[in-house]
Amino acid sequence: MHLRWITAVLLVILLTTVPLDAQKRRKGEKKKESEAITAAPKPEVKQEGSGRRSGRHTTTTTTTTPSTTTVAVPEEEVEEEIQITNESRSPVNVCPPEMKPQEGKILPCTCRDELDENALMVECVALTSAQQMHKIFNSLLLGKRIDALEVRNSTLGPLMARQTAQAYVGNLLMRGNEITELVYDTFQGTDQNVGRLDLSSNQLSRVNFSMFDSFTQLQVLNLGENQLTNIEDAGQAPSLRVLYLYSNKIDTIAPKAFGRLGGLEYLDLRWNNLQVLAPGAFHVSSDRWQLRLRANQLSSLEQAFSEDNMPYLIDLSLNSIASLTDNIYGPLIDSAILEGSKFYVAGNPIVCDCSLSWLIKNARLLSIVVGARCDGDGSPIADLGLEDFRKCPPPRKWKSPLDRALAEAKDVDMN
Ligand SMILES: *[C@@H]1O[C@H](CO)[C@@H](O)[C@H](O)[C@H]1NC(C)=O
Ligand SMILES: *[C@@H]1O[C@H](CO)[C@@H](O)[C@H](O)[C@H]1NC(C)=O
Ligand SMILES: *[C@@H]1O[C@H](CO)[C@@H](O)[C@H](O)[C@H]1NC(C)=O
Repeated sequence: MHLRWITAVLLVILLTTVPLDAQKRRKGEKKKESEAITAAPKPEVKQEGSGRRSGRHTTTTTTTTPSTTTVAVPEEEVEEEIQITNESRSPVNVCPPEMKPQEGKILPCTCRDELDENALMVECVALTSAQQMHKIFNSLLLGKRIDALEVRNSTLGPLMARQTAQAYVGNLLMRGNEITELVYDTFQGTDQNVGRLDLSSNQLSRVNFSMFDSFTQLQVLNLGENQLTNIEDAGQAPSLRVLYLYSNKIDTIAPKAFGRLGGLEYLDLRWNNLQVLAPGAFHVSSDRWQLRLRANQLSSLEQAFSEDNMPYLIDLSLNSIASLTDNIYGPLIDSAILEGSKFYVAGNPIVCDCSLSWLIKNARLLSIVVGARCDGDGSPIADLGLEDFRKCPPPRKWKSPLDRALAEAKDVDMN
């Protein structure tokens, strides 16, 4: 019984996150891609028990999903970990009889409770309005503990206040339901319980992220494939680790927009319209994070980062970067080296002139630069010989933080 439930949860999660066309991306490396990609490597998710009721017994399961990254990104085994808490739930946590699957009858929302004791799974299909859903949750499902709620193939429009009422929903999956707007208290009542919230493939043009500040358990927020244009302030959801904003129309990020997300590990801004970044756009407070900027129109990352907190992995493929200047890209590459990661820069029109000599002359840095090619003849920069740069003035003395650290260690040794 138990295993079947776990399998069902995993299935839901996989179905909602695994990309439809990982293969396609693999082939599309050379040209600008515009198709919407639905997912990215998924860091593990720990779903913890409700804040209100303490768990007694925890069951953990682990699975491995195939890598869903782009060409330039190494194949990574990503573990998805889900903890299901066997809590002392109220004995009445069973489906309302009128929502149980019935032979020959199509219900707007179906509830299953035979999967595991006390675990409820609700699936709503082809709802025609947010009101319809609101009504079901505010009557039949009031106070239920729902491990996963999935709404699909529906036309919801603007969501309402307390859309999911006072239900305890762990995974809230509402992908592709023509949602046009969230009000501030849309999820009030469930906010302490949601671990994963998927609102991708909807029509949101604005989100006030501070509405998630009270989501104490929220680890993964997916707002990919919406109509967002501008990230003013991504709020401070305390547990948020993964923020998907891919395939929107984002062209503006305010300084420190992500600066209050203390747990942020993965920021996905692929397939947006970024051209110029405000100073401090990527001032991030968490200490180990990665950034996906593939397929924007960035020509420079000048002043975007705080120098002491670079991402350890950055994907800059398919942008408009012509000049790999030492002051910006040196520290980024260095940060990648420190974490055994790489620097992805394929599909940029890099000018192979003397401005590149700092990199060409540094084999250590050059060795982790992936996909860099010269504008014009398209030759890989790794194939340029030192000969080509013989006549260049010597590169500005640039010492990477890593070099500095090594030098300091040496000094200490000698003293
Ligand atoms: C869940 O907890 C109850 C008691 O609280 C126990 O009887 C039951 O065996 C537990 N189930 C699992 C799968 O551990
Ligand atoms: C989606 O909903 C429409 C009606 O809104 C229905 O005609 C169609 O069959 C549904 N498709 C699926 C896959 O459920
Ligand atoms: C977000 O909502 C909060 C609370 O209603 C409000 O104080 C704040 O000004 C809103 N922020 C934006 C950018 O609209």
